[in-house]
Amino acid sequence: MSDVIISEYQPGDEERMAEIAPRAFGVWARYGIDYSLPRDKVEQEYREEALHYAAQVREGHPGMAIFTAKLEGFLVGYIVVRLDEYRTQRFGMKWGNLQSLAVDPDYHHRGIGKALVARAMQWFRDQGCEYVEVITDQNNIAAIRTYEGAGFRTIYCSLTLSQHLS
Ligand SMILES: CC(C)(COP(=O)(O)OP(=O)(O)OC[C@H]1O[C@@H](n2cnc3c(N)ncnc32)[C@H](O)[C@@H]1OP(=O)(O)O)[C@@H](O)C(=O)NCCC(=O)NCCS
Repeated sequence: MSDVIISEYQPGDEERMAEIAPRAFGVWARYGIDYSLPRDKVEQEYREEALHYAAQVREGHPGMAIFTAKLEGFLVGYIVVRLDEYRTQRFGMKWGNLQSLAVDPDYHHRGIGKALVARAMQWFRDQGCEYVEVITDQNNIAAIRTYEGAGFRTIYCSLTLSQHLS
């Protein structure tokens, strides 16, 4: 297999992003892990989230970028990064958010997530960020290892509780 190529989002990439998102997040993420939610809606939520990020970048949303990972031209993962103007002002340091990261499950554990995060960290440095935050789930060991490998350290955990009312 050829090496992974990390590049900036190109119009048209959203098609594969929207395929990957429900498959990647449908297993691990907050809605994906809650099997009391309708599966089709959960998948639609992640698909639309990916499409929304891509639309924002296409429209030139300031302080935002998407990087993709491609193998022989085939998109296998993406990462979404953005600057957080509100927190930059509040805390007096340029604040970046690593917004979303997904790798096609068929291509997990091959260093693609690591390569995408490395590219994202370069982007944050290029933007002059002094602080970068990423939020993930306590059960998401793959994500935690990927982020820790890039220098992040856990600083806070929270719980989400819910109930269905009849
Ligand atoms: C998190 C994710 C992006 C990692 O992508 P990946 O390409 O498989 O990761 P890599 O191969 O680069 O591995 C990065 C690290 O994670 C570890 N890892 C990968 N998959 C793992 C798994 N299933 N269980 C435990 N560790 C795992 C690797 O061992 C490596 O750590 P190491 O360097 O300490 O050995 C991928 O699992 C994914 O898309 N998950 C679903 C979406 C998601 O949870 N996104 C993050 C939400 S914030």
